[in-house]
Amino acid sequence: MSSFIEDLIARKVFNNRGEETIEVDIVTSSGFGRASAPAGKSRGKAEVTYYARGGVDAAVKKVEELVAPELAGLNADSQEEIDAVLHQLDGDSPDFKNIGGNVAYAISLANAEAAADSHGLLLFQFLGGNAATSLPYPLGNCISGGQHARGKAPDVQEYLVLPHGAETFLEAVSANALVHKKIGDALKKKSATFNGGKSDEGAWIANIDGIAAFDVIAKACEEVGNELDFECSFGVDVAASSLWSEKEGNKYVYANEGVKRDSGEQLEFMKELIETYHLSYVEDPFHEEDFQSFAELTRKTKNCLICGDDLFTTNTERLNNGLKLNAGNAIIIKVNQIGTLSDAVNTIELAQRHGYDPVVPHRSGDTCDWHIAHLAVAYKCPIIKTGVVEGSRIAKLNELIRIEHFLGDRAKMASLKIQKTEE
Ligand code: PGA
Ligand code: ZN
Repeated sequence: MSSFIEDLIARKVFNNRGEETIEVDIVTSSGFGRASAPAGKSRGKAEVTYYARGGVDAAVKKVEELVAPELAGLNADSQEEIDAVLHQLDGDSPDFKNIGGNVAYAISLANAEAAADSHGLLLFQFLGGNAATSLPYPLGNCISGGQHARGKAPDVQEYLVLPHGAETFLEAVSANALVHKKIGDALKKKSATFNGGKSDEGAWIANIDGIAAFDVIAKACEEVGNELDFECSFGVDVAASSLWSEKEGNKYVYANEGVKRDSGEQLEFMKELIETYHLSYVEDPFHEEDFQSFAELTRKTKNCLICGDDLFTTNTERLNNGLKLNAGNAIIIKVNQIGTLSDAVNTIELAQRHGYDPVVPHRSGDTCDWHIAHLAVAYKCPIIKTGVVEGSRIAKLNELIRIEHFLGDRAKMASLKIQKTEE
């Protein structure tokens, strides 16, 4: 079995928003890999550039004319070498601006898959070996707000169910689907203007106030927990950088609520929400440069993951800044925030060495690719953040159901920092 790269083909495809994106096929002497890049809407300032000038069309041309000849003949098993060549071809720019981070993403993931296939292995087995047997908990977006919604939707970007008491992945996915359905039913009763609309991530969009949304998801989680006999908690992605306004005098502007909060008030508000609703997960409660407030909230709360997305942008340098202060205890790992798989794995390993939980998510503009399902299992990430419904989300959930099925008796759920309530 040999994994030498014979061919690399790029094409333009589309994501769930109908936006153009790049897809790459890699053919080795005995295997095949394919990957397409996702796209975010609520992006961190420190994320790499998606495409160089000329967008996807220019990128396709560049991959075929510039990258393919350089990668031909290399061994796909050497992921780090492949990723290093991508950096070299980019001229080692700090933000992948010459090749494009999404181009690097598609090549890097297609290569990993081609290497796995060349050895007759599934991606998670190839990357994680025999020890890769734990399934992540699905953190499922149920209500959209912020930059992911329109009208008078809540200011918080995502309301996320976390079925942390589930004993299998299948059970966890069933719980999330039930919570999502119950929330839809509740919104029908609560909001006269609710028309069943959903966001890109498949979460409901309704004109309700932010606190009403907390009450709706809390009730749905409690009911589902009782019906299925295991605990379902929930959390939020505040995506606070999109609320933060220097123009308004350095305040978080909650337009829906009609409230502005300074940093101190934001900290108190977050703490109060965590305590009142027993939140198990809070992502980006502060804007992307406020490491200090992340540290303070982490110190002042228990049993809740405080997760940095825009804060860290999957970047080891930014994570190191956070580690010095103990800012947060979890980190979002989006490969296309940083470019290549090797870069993302470095960040995962740094996080794990310091006790931070890596959370692997979809992006709001995504394709039916399922690579992140394999990454979560391979690198022992205890949570995968996806939607509950919608094709690009289901593609990842169903792949994890297949992985759980494939592992059979060896499959177990990942261990989470969130404790179950004593019986
Ligand atoms: P994005 O948002 O995929 O639209 O960037 C997701 C997030 O903020 O977690
Ligand atoms: Zn986020």
